[in-house]
Order: sequence, then C-alpha cells, then structure tokens
Amino acid sequence: MTDPTSTTESRTDAVRRHDPSVRGFASDNYAGVHPEILAAIALANGGHQVAYGEDDYTAHLQDVFRKHFGDKAEAYPVFNGTGANVTALQALLPRWGAVIAADSAHINVDEGGAPEKMGGIKLLTVPTPDGKLTPELIDQQAWGWGDEHRAQPLVVSITQSTELGTLYTADEIRDIVDHAHQHGMLVHVDGSRLGNAAASLGLPLRAFTTDVGVDVLSFGGTKNGLLFGECVVVLNPEQVRNIKYLRKTSMQLASKMRFVSVQFEALLTGDLWLRNAGHANAMARRLETAVREIDGVTIVRPVQANAVFAILPREVSERLQKRYRFYFWNEHTGEVRWMCAFDTTEADIDAFAAAIVEEMGRA
Ligand SMILES: Cc1ncc(COP(=O)(O)O)c(C=O)c1O
Repeated sequence: MTDPTSTTESRTDAVRRHDPSVRGFASDNYAGVHPEILAAIALANGGHQVAYGEDDYTAHLQDVFRKHFGDKAEAYPVFNGTGANVTALQALLPRWGAVIAADSAHINVDEGGAPEKMGGIKLLTVPTPDGKLTPELIDQQAWGWGDEHRAQPLVVSITQSTELGTLYTADEIRDIVDHAHQHGMLVHVDGSRLGNAAASLGLPLRAFTTDVGVDVLSFGGTKNGLLFGECVVVLNPEQVRNIKYLRKTSMQLASKMRFVSVQFEALLTGDLWLRNAGHANAMARRLETAVREIDGVTIVRPVQANAVFAILPREVSERLQKRYRFYFWNEHTGEVRWMCAFDTTEADIDAFAAAIVEEMGRA
C-alpha cells in the first residue's frame, strides 16, 4: 500500500451539509478556516513527527513568537481559549490566590466556571462601564493581603480587545501593569482577539504587551482564521513557570501538536493575522456606519474592534434573527451583539443593513 498521507487528491466520503455562502453576525467563531491555514495544515501532513510538541513545527514556532513578542517569549500551543486562560492563570497563582477581573470578562461569564472548577481559582470581579479595568477599579478588589480569611489578590486579568468590543491603549495597559506590580500582583491578558486590537491600534503586538510589562498572555488564533488553536505566551519567564506541566494537567496538551503550531506559523510569519483582523475590524466599522443613521437603532458602545453592540426594538431583532444568526447580549435591555469575522464581506454588511432597514420599516 502507498502512503495514504502522500496523496494530494481530496477524495472523501463525507458530504457537504451546509451552505458555505451563508454567514451571520453571531460570532467570529462561526467562520470557517482561512485557506492559507488549511494549506499549512496540509503541508505539515505526511510522515511521522514526534508527538506532544517535540516536532519541528513547534520548535520553529518559538522563533515566530519571539519575533512578535521579544526574545524572552515562550509559546505553548493549546486547544482553546478557556484552556489557555485556565492554564495561564494557574501558573501565576499559589493555591490561595485570586484573580481580579472585570465582571464582563470571559473567564467570569463564559467559561462555565472553569477557572474555579478546574483551576481552583477565586475570581474577584469588578463592574465596569466598558469592559475595561483601571487602577482605580482594580483597587475595589485589591486589598486584604495577609488576611487569611480573604483569597489573596495576586493577579489582574484584562481582555484585549474586550468582550464589549472596546480597546485598551498601550498607556492604559502600562498603568494597570505598573499598579498591579507595585502591589505584588502579576498581569494576564486574555488576547483571544489580540490581533484585532493591534490592527485597530496600529501597533505591533509587543507594544501593548511585552513592552508595557504584561507577564503572560492567552493569544488567540481560532477567531482570526485558524481551524482551532490558541497559545499561552509567557512574556516574563522569571515569574511564570511550569506551564508545560499545567498544560498537560489542564488537558490542553495536543498529541499532534504540529498541526496547531503550523497554523500559527502560517498566521504570524507574514501578515495574515493583520489582514484577517484588520478586515474584520473594517467590516464592523462599515456595519456601524451603515446602521447608525437608521431611525430606532442605537449603537451603544464604541466600535473599536470587530464587534458592534446595538439596541433596537426587540420584535425587529427577533425577526432579523430569522434571517441572520446573532445573539442578544443583554436580554433585559434588548442589547444585541453583531460580530464580524475575517470572512465577512462588504456584500454581507450591505445586505444585513438593508435587512435592518426593511424590518424597521415593518415595526
Ligand atoms: C474574550 C474571550 N476569551 C476567550 C475565548 C475563548 O473561548 P473558547 O474556550 O471558546 O475557545 C473567547 C471566545 O469567545 C473570548 O471571547
């Protein structure tokens, strides 16, 4: 028999079960895989490579990440964002430690309690107007060190871009890091959409992470065109140790890691990450521009990355949802979230905006 992985034919018994021309605004996770990423996966196929990260692709990945995040950066590929966050946070904390985060943080609202359940981590949350922590907001929870009755606040976690589609400037992150470090706390960034932030800020990735003193990062790939995969990126190896053991016990160690690593190589070696993220952001801005003048539609948050948040009559949103997938962000206020992805087209935006006008007309 010939080597089955050497064939370039795409013969399959699987049947296409969806319409690939249908796109919605529910999540950047709904998008498919960028063709350059699929090509990279095919390239890494064939033959045998040592499993569990001892492969040539993962070895090279270290250089790829160092180019973006500096010479001390260490990249640990994982399966998903929740796993990246839980692995990274465990590495920062002793068993009695706690993490200060915005109450809207993904680790608090969208990870099913995984930090608490899998990591044994106490989250100390703070309400924010825009998904962003500040030194003053951090201080609402940064107290009680030495008090054995209080979980010890030893880490601050922020999200860039935030769950509410907003951005921290590099200076804002520097202020948070300086404040946290002064109080003996380390800083984690949930960078599930870090590429979107860089594209929007017009800054290199390291300018608002490594260069402002962030200790560890969850770096996103899935939302920016990967099939799957995120990386825990250690920026301060003196303080953040033992990720490799924690990754395994957190069930995030991929045996066929070469296929995660090669995706990041394809994403980060050239400008694919920036093209994808910049495009998603541009589509969100286009959507904002198209709908902001529609009577009865209010854009309720600054559009700084690839998300648009709006309030419109509930019955209009419900009718629209029959035509396009998207979520209510806040059932109580009727706020909806429209996400753009690397594959959202201008025609998608224009058709969606026209559908909003049409449904508003029937209100
Ligand atoms: C801010 C943020 N962090 C992390 C994640 C990653 O989550 P998952 O575990 O679904 O990959 C997401 C996904 O929606 C997210 O929005």
